[in-house]
Amino acid sequence: MAADPDSVERAPVVEATDLVREYRMGTGTIRALDGASLRLDGGQFVSVVGPSGAGKSTLLHIIGALDTPTSGTIRVAGTDLMSLDDDAASEFRRHRVGFIFQFFNLVPTLSAWENVALPMLLDSRSLAKSRPRAVELMERVGLGDRIEHRPSELSGGQMQRVAVARSLIMDPAVVLADEPTGNLDSRTGADVLDLLADVAHDRPDRLVLMVTHDRSAADVCDAVVTVRDGRVADGQG
Ligand SMILES: Nc1ncnc2c1ncn2[C@@H]1O[C@H](COP(=O)(O)OP(=O)(O)O)[C@@H](O)[C@H]1O
Ligand SMILES: [Mg+2]
Repeated sequence: MAADPDSVERAPVVEATDLVREYRMGTGTIRALDGASLRLDGGQFVSVVGPSGAGKSTLLHIIGALDTPTSGTIRVAGTDLMSLDDDAASEFRRHRVGFIFQFFNLVPTLSAWENVALPMLLDSRSLAKSRPRAVELMERVGLGDRIEHRPSELSGGQMQRVAVARSLIMDPAVVLADEPTGNLDSRTGADVLDLLADVAHDRPDRLVLMVTHDRSAADVCDAVVTVRDGRVADGQG
């Protein structure tokens, strides 16, 4: 699809319309999302807040092509996610999305740089060839002197920095973080938030979207999206 590159760049990174996600539970259904709509441009650090059970993680998973809505439309970085089969969805996840989790999800037997390079390995590229880029990203997140450390030899904040570096190695259009500071003390968490803001502002076409309960997040985020009862509450749709 040969779209005009300028118009692609100006298009929102996330365009979600009327997303519904139902789970069948026994005889009934649960609506995790109930008509959520959202448009977000790149170059931003956006937080997603709202009560527990509101649908925040479900929304993030759909944006990352980890889950499929029951109905609605979802385009991310110019790709219509509803049109993807399983292989194309996994290709999309590998190349266009970086994921950051509350509990870091690092592989304990690999060194820090190998953890950063892991998405390359999963994309059938050699670990050795991926090393320079992984080391560069370790430096980018302030851990140039920790590249050979195992996760167990790093602090929580350092482990999350490694996870941030790993999320960037495929140069994704969207970085999705679910409670990335939930397991960190407030000072360390604030440093990770600053790093995520920098990562979002590095490139005009990159969006960093973060689910959080961290009240200090609003200070560093460019926008806050509130999810309530499966819908986006204020003004973002
Ligand atoms: N796999 C699932 N099966 C059934 N119900 C689910 C599943 N995942 C989430 N839900 C339900 O959907 C709603 C939204 O969940 P979630 O998106 O995880 O909320 P949040 O991240 O805002 O806390 C909740 O009521 C939750 O119990
Ligand atoms: Mg959640």
